[in-house]
Amino acid sequence: MNDALIRSLPKCELHIHIEGSLEPELMFALARRNGIALPYESVEAVRRAYQFRNLQDFLDIYYQGMSVLITEQDFYDLAFAYLERAKADNVRHVEMFFDPQGHTARGVAFETVTDGLSRAIADAERTLGVSACLVMCFLRHLDEASAEKTLDEALAFKDRIVGIGLDSSEAGHPPSKFKRVFGRARDAGFFVTAHAGEEGPASYVWEALDELGVERIDHGNRAMEDETLVGRLVREKMALTVCPLSNLRLRVVDDLSHHPLRRMMDKGLVVTVNSDDPAYFGGYVNQNYREISEALALSREEIAAIVRNGFHASLMPDEEKKKAL
Ligand code: HPA
Ligand code: ZN
Repeated sequence: MNDALIRSLPKCELHIHIEGSLEPELMFALARRNGIALPYESVEAVRRAYQFRNLQDFLDIYYQGMSVLITEQDFYDLAFAYLERAKADNVRHVEMFFDPQGHTARGVAFETVTDGLSRAIADAERTLGVSACLVMCFLRHLDEASAEKTLDEALAFKDRIVGIGLDSSEAGHPPSKFKRVFGRARDAGFFVTAHAGEEGPASYVWEALDELGVERIDHGNRAMEDETLVGRLVREKMALTVCPLSNLRLRVVDDLSHHPLRRMMDKGLVVTVNSDDPAYFGGYVNQNYREISEALALSREEIAAIVRNGFHASLMPDEEKKKAL
């Protein structure tokens, strides 16, 4: 019903893992190009495998999928395909997560990854009119020493990487595990954010705020279990990058009609809507808006408010924000 509105509004996407935009068709094309054997016989077989009981089920397949990314051109093709798709959804600005440790651990050089992604971003700005920037995530299932090494590598690419995030298996890997490396990242001038409260408890959201000094919370669903925390997030106008279809596919919620987005808005939280890993979770950003709007019967005003939150919470320069709003 609100389809035309959703399509027509210029939007920001603030929570997209570029490796999670790898569609099975491109996965097969890159596997062929790089002489890599995939454990699936067809694109359909890949899609059939996308049945997840939880975050870890997804991550196992996500890391396997990204193993076809080898050359600078592969990273370029991945990012440019996503940015074209984003443009089709009327996305104006993207803050793109990437997982360098998922590549360097396989022998792909850090600069191969950043060169390909940043070349696609530069071309998309010029040819599509979509602005984008890179936010490098540490894999939280690895140790802090590995994150430290990754930060050391990123310092040489400070002109291309604007922020630092934290992703991968949440349970058992609290934000406090990365306190030192986030301190260094902040001191170096990076914007900082972290996944928290997706599967992990509200205490991980507190830690992300107090120990990592984050400026945004990725997901944040379980913050709703702690009234004091909600009050603080509201007071601090801390944006949450919510990902409805991800939450459904990873069974963070059992049904979109039970999704906390409306309750979050009613509490005064600054929520945004994003796709997370669109190739795996069944929809790009507009599809996330469509399905959550329908499930929660969001009004046109509520949809427009979420879209505006995306611009306010973004790292776009203020003049650009004003133009877009
Ligand atoms: N959560 C944690 N790590 C991730 C995700 C996610 O939704 N997507 C890609 N890495
Ligand atoms: Zn995510």
